[in-house]
Amino acid sequence: MTARRDFLKSAFRSAAAVPLLTSLGVSADAAQQTGSSLPHADNPDYWARVRDQFLLARDKVFFNNGTIGAMPKVVLDRVVAHLHTMATDLADWDYKGPNWIGGYDSFTDIRAKAARLVNADVKEVALTENVTESMSFVANGLDLKPGDEILISDQEHPGGRSSWLLAEKRHGAVVRMVKLPRPAHSQAEIFDIVAKSITPRTRVIAISHVITVSGAIVPAKQIADEAQRRGIFTVFDGAQALGHIPVDVREIGCDAYVSCFHKWLLAPAGNGFLYVRRDAAPHIWSTLASTNWDNHEDDGYRFSQRGTGSLSLLMGMDAALDFHFEIGPARVQERIKFLGDRLRDGLRENAKVKIFSPSDPALCAGITVYSVEGMNGGKLQEEFWNRGRLRPRSLGEVNGVRQCTHIFNSPEEVDRTVAIVNELTSA
Ligand SMILES: Cc1ncc(COP(=O)(O)O)c(C=O)c1O
Repeated sequence: MTARRDFLKSAFRSAAAVPLLTSLGVSADAAQQTGSSLPHADNPDYWARVRDQFLLARDKVFFNNGTIGAMPKVVLDRVVAHLHTMATDLADWDYKGPNWIGGYDSFTDIRAKAARLVNADVKEVALTENVTESMSFVANGLDLKPGDEILISDQEHPGGRSSWLLAEKRHGAVVRMVKLPRPAHSQAEIFDIVAKSITPRTRVIAISHVITVSGAIVPAKQIADEAQRRGIFTVFDGAQALGHIPVDVREIGCDAYVSCFHKWLLAPAGNGFLYVRRDAAPHIWSTLASTNWDNHEDDGYRFSQRGTGSLSLLMGMDAALDFHFEIGPARVQERIKFLGDRLRDGLRENAKVKIFSPSDPALCAGITVYSVEGMNGGKLQEEFWNRGRLRPRSLGEVNGVRQCTHIFNSPEEVDRTVAIVNELTSA
């Protein structure tokens, strides 16, 4: 019985870190380091071994991380092991220890890992289901009044935008949509446009940290500083940022930050993230109410508690965080950007390619949005698949495709993309 309990404990709770680095031949010391001195965005052996950690079939190439991330094997194994235990040994659950389901417990150990990732306090971090839910918690939770203005951009995802449109209809608040350039040329340009759109009635600024339809990195800190100076609540939609570029919520200085683990963090679908700064949390009502609905000692717990959820998916998310930390956030980000820069450099050589992502390398990382002359996004997506089994994602009639590079991709795969584009434009 004790052995069974120990097994369950380790199956359910934060399993020992995946012994990945040992298998990759990277020393523990090196693993502790961060920064660009580390090996090595272009080290083929190292990244080939990282690639081996994924189950992604080798005869096709996944480039659509902006929609959903590809789980490494350790993540899938963790989910399956937990589901299996749920199916076979549910009778062992005696309600004396932690719950076997998600949605009720505080999951402080997992929230602490997420908090570490973004430099927050654990009580400022909530685990939700997705970005849409997190943004809805913020928008529905604020006491908005008729005439209060909410500033968003014209390039928000519906999951980041719609809860504000709902608030507009419900409370008589006013959504002001600012038009951002695409491609953006500089962070100063973006900041200027946002700052000039602020009025005395602006109550909230809610825009993306990384724009989903271009990959542009928005000057979050500058915007938050300006907003704070003027007493405006800021929330960033970091759906495309977490696990992709550095996110330090304390450094940014925003009131709230919404994101997910199921894109760039490579967790299973259904794992969302919400940060609310300690002093901002009292201003946000709970939307979903269970026992902790009024717990202001741990607001992250309050926003996390949402009734029965899947602990199996949460276990997978926990494993994804371990995986991310083992490789090292800085190294992951560096590799993603190295591949993204290579793609943009290759595409830029072709005059028939229009790139919607910023040309300044400092403004983008792993997301590249581009079109090819004479072809809509659907057609381009189809050509990539038919000619090379490559899977970027169509963004429709005029926007071409969005191609995301991640640590499971290789320079050769990026070069194959460019070769296909060149083939298409020389036909
Ligand atoms: C910027 C942005 N916000 C929100 C979302 C919606 O995310 P979720 O489906 O996790 O709610 C996405 C999804 O692609 C996104 O790119």
